[in-house]
Amino acid sequence: MNMNYRLSQVGQTTSPYQWEAYVVADTLRFDTNTLPFPPPSAERVPVSAVSVNEYGDPNYTGLKRELASYERVSQSMITVTDSGDEAIDILSKTFLDPGDRFVITPPTYEMFDIQCRINRGIPIEIPLVGKTFAVNAADIIKASRQPRTQLIFLVNPNNPTGSVIPQSTLRRIVSAASCAVVVDEAYGEFYGKTAVQLTKQYDNLIVLKTFSKFAGLAGARVGYLIANRNLSRVFNTVRFPMGVSSLSSRLAETVLKNDRRWIRKQISMIRAERRRLAGSLTALGFVVYPSEANFLLVNMGNRARSIASRLTSCGIIIRDRSAKPYLSGCVRITVRSERENNKLINALKEIV
Ligand SMILES: Cc1ncc(COP(=O)(O)O)c(C=O)c1O
Repeated sequence: MNMNYRLSQVGQTTSPYQWEAYVVADTLRFDTNTLPFPPPSAERVPVSAVSVNEYGDPNYTGLKRELASYERVSQSMITVTDSGDEAIDILSKTFLDPGDRFVITPPTYEMFDIQCRINRGIPIEIPLVGKTFAVNAADIIKASRQPRTQLIFLVNPNNPTGSVIPQSTLRRIVSAASCAVVVDEAYGEFYGKTAVQLTKQYDNLIVLKTFSKFAGLAGARVGYLIANRNLSRVFNTVRFPMGVSSLSSRLAETVLKNDRRWIRKQISMIRAERRRLAGSLTALGFVVYPSEANFLLVNMGNRARSIASRLTSCGIIIRDRSAKPYLSGCVRITVRSERENNKLINALKEIV
């Protein structure tokens, strides 16, 4: 066959984000860190709530109003995005010219590396250290001072370790770094601490959030960035003018308006289940790392892969990370409802 086109370097070399194939109903998903239930008011937003034949509001005015009240920042500090992942894309487009560098702290969320490489960035890896997966603040600050370092990605709590960065360390990095610092708080609600208010103090700090985890809206694809108003103006220029569908933006707005109590209840349920699930997994002989997120990193040693695949054959999917750098023997398990967690524990009891 004739090849009348030429792929870019990125087109030739990018490997896809690894993800379990789409799985049908009845499969229990302990691999995606989502909530076990949809938010109650989202179920009451019909497609007819928006005029699908027309474009929606490009400024997402209603959603931004709710977000400003939820996050206690002004609307001018918010950029609504079509997901946390699109927010990462916007950040890399905003800060990286080809050959510029970005700092990541493996093991961490892989989309920073994927998206920034697609936008021609070069990674600097400063691995988390020790059994607590602490950030290496001194080396991160040093890396920020290298020529062409433009962006640092921190995650609090981190995926997949569940470990956190103390506020004092965050402040130290943000105030000493000579570039933009992103704090990804996709799991922030499960921790209960946030850097959002610090964005009023540090003009190089950007907080990234998503409705996928704390709000039970992973399928709607809505995220946002919080930063000083000058940066926010740029992000709002770089993003697609109409990236979030009118239905998704209405869903997110409705949930923030009506379901905040429900969200708080879900979070406290997940935190209680996190403790219980960690206890049950420890009792089965696995090493469970402390987590402030809605998932647990569990070391199953050389049985990790076979346990994960036996669970899959029982219709239960966990995230096998055991072949990944820094994560030898580890799987990541989402904390779900009591009933679902019991199913997982019972299946594991059978297997081991
Ligand atoms: C740390 C972190 N950030 C961002 C995201 C992106 O979430 P989404 O694209 O669903 O908004 C995820 C998803 O797993 C994540 O784990």
